[in-house]
Amino acid sequence: MNADHGWPVSESVADQVRRLREQLSDWSYRYYVLDEPAVPDAEYDRIFRALQSIEEQHPELVSADSPTQRVGDRLLDGFSEVTHEVPMLSLDNAFSDEELVAFDRRISERLGIQDTVIYVAEPKLDGLAVSILYKDGQLVRAATRGDGASGEDITANIRTLRSVPLGLRGQAPALLEVRGEVVMPHDGFEALNERQRQAGQKPFANPRNAAAGSLRQLDSGITAQRPLEFYAYSIARLEGQAMPATHLASLQLLRDLGLRVNSLVCRCHGVDELLAFYQRVQQQRPTLGYDIDGVVYKVDDLALQQKLGFVSRAPRWAIAHKFPAQEELTILRDVEWQVGRTGALTPVARLEPVFVGGVTVSNATLHNADEIERLDLHIGDTVVVLRAGDVIPKVSAVLADRRPESARAITIPVACPVCGSEVFRAEGEAVTRCTGGLICAAQQKEAVRHFASRRAMDIEGLGERLVDVLVDEKLIANVADLYRLSIEQVASLERMGEKSAANLIEAIQRSKQVALPRFLFALGIREVGEATALALANHFGSLQAIMAADDQAFVQVADVGPVVASHLQHFFAEPHNQQVISRLLEAGVTPSESEPQKPETLPLHGQTWVLTGTLEQLTRDQAKAALQQLGAKVAGSVSAKTSMVIAGEAAGSKLDKAQALGIAVEDETYLIKVLTEHGVYPGSAE
Ligand code: IVH
Repeated sequence: MNADHGWPVSESVADQVRRLREQLSDWSYRYYVLDEPAVPDAEYDRIFRALQSIEEQHPELVSADSPTQRVGDRLLDGFSEVTHEVPMLSLDNAFSDEELVAFDRRISERLGIQDTVIYVAEPKLDGLAVSILYKDGQLVRAATRGDGASGEDITANIRTLRSVPLGLRGQAPALLEVRGEVVMPHDGFEALNERQRQAGQKPFANPRNAAAGSLRQLDSGITAQRPLEFYAYSIARLEGQAMPATHLASLQLLRDLGLRVNSLVCRCHGVDELLAFYQRVQQQRPTLGYDIDGVVYKVDDLALQQKLGFVSRAPRWAIAHKFPAQEELTILRDVEWQVGRTGALTPVARLEPVFVGGVTVSNATLHNADEIERLDLHIGDTVVVLRAGDVIPKVSAVLADRRPESARAITIPVACPVCGSEVFRAEGEAVTRCTGGLICAAQQKEAVRHFASRRAMDIEGLGERLVDVLVDEKLIANVADLYRLSIEQVASLERMGEKSAANLIEAIQRSKQVALPRFLFALGIREVGEATALALANHFGSLQAIMAADDQAFVQVADVGPVVASHLQHFFAEPHNQQVISRLLEAGVTPSESEPQKPETLPLHGQTWVLTGTLEQLTRDQAKAALQQLGAKVAGSVSAKTSMVIAGEAAGSKLDKAQALGIAVEDETYLIKVLTEHGVYPGSAE
């Protein structure tokens, strides 16, 4: 076989290719069919690339069933028509227990049997029905349902789905036509929509539409990037081997041949077991990870199915038992803005109560102002409310043609609805935030916790629980109140002794002597971490100078871009925050002042350091801040300009590059030595 192509292919290369393919298809089988992943994705990818590279060198070894051949290079100009030899039917629906009981009775009567009927119950997957044809074990054609009599040839697209085997496992029949559903799982759907939004394209309304759009691509390269999965649910044709006697056995056969069958499938005796299945699946529905809109019951015995036959376009031997609607229409009465613990303002829709997904819904999240704009939402609008299982109800669409004349536009508040401080939305951010971080009641616990934390004011003994109690008992409302607490007040709290109260007050008093960078960090200004706080302190030298600065002055600081500058400016401009800072200073909190440092005089001035790997004794941010305090630049990648690389545990490519460029490399111990020598090691007293 090699001689024809003139390629010197040794037997061992052909063997190797076969072995890698078998390995990959076995892993896919374990992953999709058995649901027992055998190796991490990275290992699959590694072997896949190994196979790809051998095939590139030996094109004569490439075969259509190789896992590397899922995406072809051909672009279709349209889909050709496929006639379904066995029509693809639809199902009758039952919406209540009574309708189901009637279905079961009809079956017994038609068959003239007294015993309970045996059924197979399955989830009703909410995707697209497809039919896939295998000849001699090889996937040869795949088609959509279309009108049931004929559909479209989507072979190239179906081949890109990793849960669809290109070749069957084991003893393959001469011909197999398998029917099943293609779905898009929720996590993949969310990720796809995020990509769509980032590319400036319209997001898909739901996973079903996304799956449909993905299967109707003329370029299978696009389908390959879409997270689609296939579940087989029946055999339409089987040749060269006997058809099993029951539906359950036919699903088992499909599984043995390497096709994925849904794991919830279950044999049920009579109506009671069917109803129990319905309840169970309905409960599991929110955590399944893909959409289902009900369950399907099928008579298990295939001979009985044949006896029962069909009415018009649906079989008599099966029925879909639908779940209650998850989408309903209602009226938007108002929009209220809630403030989260980090100051984010979230719009909440107040709705005319409506029964949806099994509960009455009167509130729904609107996420943020962009979402309101995207939906073009007005108060008074008729809206679609979606409630998927446990998920928080959301407004998914607006029926603009039903907008009444009295409809009102929704305005974004200019002041925080909780504390009245100014609200601010940074450029490029979707979220509007309250700037009154130090006084806003919605944010008070979070603000106090951060203020007291070890890397901020380091108030020992003021843990999360105690912050909750102090705020709940109204002993403090903001961080300045901490300095007015008395031992008696604290000791009167539950589970607080005299001794621990005294210790806490002492720790609070001790915190008054604080380095300016720590104090700035403790204020909890958005996006001002330890490194930025340090850079600000070095640049301005005093709190007064910082409070007097504006956007223009802030952007002069290394490490401060326009967004951080605007956060700083808004924070210090907010009178409520100014008040709290004044009260802190009045109480005796004294952030240390220092002359703004001349950069040239700093010991590491002009040097660029790179940190790589994991540091054990201090965080990256702390190390970066301390190095910057000594005048070094801290860069993210190694180049010829790098002065020093500090390699922590498991340092990777940056270390390799430093060695290749002959740049000095030291470990964490060395870093700590340098920082300690210059008195900036965060672990030592400041
Ligand atoms: S059996 C003749 N089983 O429901 C039997 N269908 O309304 C027809 N569906 O077009 C199909 N999950 O797309 C069957 N476990 C399941 C199913 C299922 C979803 C869809 C399928 C079909 C539609 C019928």
